[in-house]
Amino acid sequence: MLVSATEMLKKAEAGHYGVGAFNLNNLEWTKSILQAAEETQSPVILQCSAGAGKYMGGWRTVVDLVKDLYDFMDITVPVALHLDHGTYDAAKECLAAGFTSIMYDGSHEESFEINHDRTAELVKLAHSKGVSIEAEVGGIGGTEDGVTSRGECADPKECKAIADLGVDFLACGIGNIHGVYPADWEGLQFDVLAAIKAEVGDLPLVLHGGSGIPEDQIKRAIQGGVSKINVNTENQIVFAQATREYFEAGNDKKEKGFDPRKVLKPGMDAVVDMVKQKIVMFGSDGKAWN
Ligand code: 13P
Repeated sequence: MLVSATEMLKKAEAGHYGVGAFNLNNLEWTKSILQAAEETQSPVILQCSAGAGKYMGGWRTVVDLVKDLYDFMDITVPVALHLDHGTYDAAKECLAAGFTSIMYDGSHEESFEINHDRTAELVKLAHSKGVSIEAEVGGIGGTEDGVTSRGECADPKECKAIADLGVDFLACGIGNIHGVYPADWEGLQFDVLAAIKAEVGDLPLVLHGGSGIPEDQIKRAIQGGVSKINVNTENQIVFAQATREYFEAGNDKKEKGFDPRKVLKPGMDAVVDMVKQKIVMFGSDGKAWN
């Protein structure tokens, strides 16, 4: 059975490790992420953006796919199915469809008050169904599903106001950016992280744009209170690279090499390897049940 992300992230916060939240894009990625989590005995969050949900055939398809694969693959580790960067409407749709965790990203709303009020409403709704909820304060840089943000650092007082609404974990900009980091990226702002943590206490914090952040900064962020780390781009890069190598080696021209199951296999294996690497880097391996 899928679980909410509340308990796994509380344990991560208390134990000073991070739980990876890996974006789904299709059936193959779902299998790869579940396999990597099971092989490392790690709790895991499978998350789906609106764009990926639409691509995969709608929220109910995503819920059915994850639940059925969880059973079919005999997965034993805790798995949460989470909405990534949800609008107000998408958050409600995912609650109805059976997601076990949602993110309402009100950082793009016209005012902080709208973000605050809608988060408050969705916290009540999510908790009435036993579903965990992530909110966001301050934009995360980069473009995701067509939404671009300047990536400003979050205001610690606003973080405190949203934390007080009872959210289960909070995304707050600390200089992180979605996608590939530019060469002149200044790195994570650990002073901002410390100021936010001082306001929100033991509330687990979320680091978006986890791809490409150097390991030492990831570890420092975890020690500073980050408990959920989102990764998508690095999986996309290794998937594309492994698939390209398959074709460049002429494998599709060899015996039945055009079979889609063979074509997609190197990419799937590459995603398994990348997710395992991240799980070990975040320190959640072996933490499935403690
Ligand atoms: P990356 O694509 O940069 O890994 O970020 C993923 C993310 O934060 C999803 O919300």
